[in-house]
Amino acid sequence: MTQELTSPSPAPQAPGTGRGPGWWRDAVIYQVYVRSFADSDGDGIGDLRGARERLPHLKDLGVDAVWLTPFYASPQADGGYDVADYRAVDPLFGTLQDADELIRAAHDLGLRVIVDIVPNHTSDRHPWFQDPELARQRYLFRPGKGGSGELPPNDWESVFGGPAWTRTDHGDWYLHLFAPEQPDLNWDNPEVHAEFEAIMRFWLDLGVDGFRVDVAHGMIKAPGLPDIGHGAQAQLIGAQVLPFFDQDGVHAIHRAWRRLLDGYGDARGKQVIGVAEAWAPTAERLALYVRPDELHQAFNFQFLNAPWQSDALRSVIDASLAATASVGAPTTWVLSNHDVVRHTTRLGGSLARARAAALLMLALPGSAYLYQGEELGLPEVTDLPDEVRQDPAFFRGGRATGAVGPGTDTESAPDGAAAGGQDGFRDGCRVPLPWSGELPPYGFGPGGSWLPQPADWGGLTVAAQTGDPASTLELYRAALELRRRLPGLGDGPMSWAPAPDGVLALTRPGLLCTVNTLGHDVGLPAPGTPLLSSAPVTVDDATAQLPGDSCTWWAI
Ligand code: NOJ
Repeated sequence: MTQELTSPSPAPQAPGTGRGPGWWRDAVIYQVYVRSFADSDGDGIGDLRGARERLPHLKDLGVDAVWLTPFYASPQADGGYDVADYRAVDPLFGTLQDADELIRAAHDLGLRVIVDIVPNHTSDRHPWFQDPELARQRYLFRPGKGGSGELPPNDWESVFGGPAWTRTDHGDWYLHLFAPEQPDLNWDNPEVHAEFEAIMRFWLDLGVDGFRVDVAHGMIKAPGLPDIGHGAQAQLIGAQVLPFFDQDGVHAIHRAWRRLLDGYGDARGKQVIGVAEAWAPTAERLALYVRPDELHQAFNFQFLNAPWQSDALRSVIDASLAATASVGAPTTWVLSNHDVVRHTTRLGGSLARARAAALLMLALPGSAYLYQGEELGLPEVTDLPDEVRQDPAFFRGGRATGAVGPGTDTESAPDGAAAGGQDGFRDGCRVPLPWSGELPPYGFGPGGSWLPQPADWGGLTVAAQTGDPASTLELYRAALELRRRLPGLGDGPMSWAPAPDGVLALTRPGLLCTVNTLGHDVGLPAPGTPLLSSAPVTVDDATAQLPGDSCTWWAI
């Protein structure tokens, strides 16, 4: 976190100078969902220029890096995760020059930049797929079953619903674990490996500091593409190794990429990283993705999916830390992203819990990812009309779970409150950000917004919350400032302290963190002086009253 940032195109330095403890080990990384962050040209869709203009918000917030979701040339069948040209910017989002300027502007502010790479599949508009001969070498085509090949080659289901196979006019079938517009690549073909290494170098040359690897657990399929023999595959994703997810073969790819990233960084005196969007059944299997010779980080979706209960939180924290420690990696915490119900809503529709969960996450050792808008306490938008929805899962009748994102666990609210979003689809967490003003589009841009924003978001804008010490925005700013000020808080040791039932207490360098997961006040001997709290905490005669659903950092 304290390491100096190198310029986007630095002169080569002596190999090895970019190593060291690793800026990423404790970095707080902010996810910009480009389409919904800030719109500069009034078409209602966020873009790279808009993102650049709003970078000062991220600087003021105090994050270390920004992750930009795909802005590459794409028909947008899946929000840009269907890439037609990995080296071009989609006109919706701007130009390559805009990308260059954004990266440079971020670096000037001391923010690193991570971009998405989508290696499991391309768009069906990708030139490789458009060329029938090339397509048959570089994607997964198989003959169908049945008398005339009229049945799919196996029983795999698309994560978005329906079969994972589509038949072509030539009579054979191609695999798409996601939408039919997203054919899966054939990673047995060395040309696919070479192309993705070249794509990475292209963006590294433009100055990016790393890649978020989409579906990092999906590229390798079990030999022979065997049937699963189970009708409810959505429930199995993430619960067990499947013939298409978390196959051991993916690790060879990650090892090759780590060599590329280290080699590139070493030659330039910087550290460039890979973060796995990998969905593995256990913390131990997830940790395999962050072995010293693989990727640097892997999103901890087990933590994201944990219910708001002290025992469950403690055990997922313990399991995560133990698994990553066994391979010498930090844990990478996350509460929200563009695939899951925003955690304010997921945790029982409770802003109090959302604020407490965020303070807990930021007190844990390791790195943390913030999803745009969580610093404003935004809820999921649950009343979008069908005609504005764009999530392909909606149109295919699936639910956005598992490999798209961890399930939208509507049962996790201990009080049984309806915690889910809009039927498990993903548009409700992608509504454009409110920046200022009383009315939509709340400063999102000079035009409208591609998804309608709620009429009551005037009090949630960045402008409305700035300077209000009770606001969620100021809570995040204060937490991130303390993280910077307290050495060792990011990457140092952690131990549990005794606490009453329903309460967690953990000791970190420079502070003790208490979390009251119960819905009512809990009294306990004051562990120190309150530094920061998600809800007003009182200390009387050395007894602290922890408000229900709150988290407090104490100076000890
Ligand atoms: C995970 C991405 O986060 C999600 O948005 C996308 O739909 C799938 N991968 C497929 O690329």
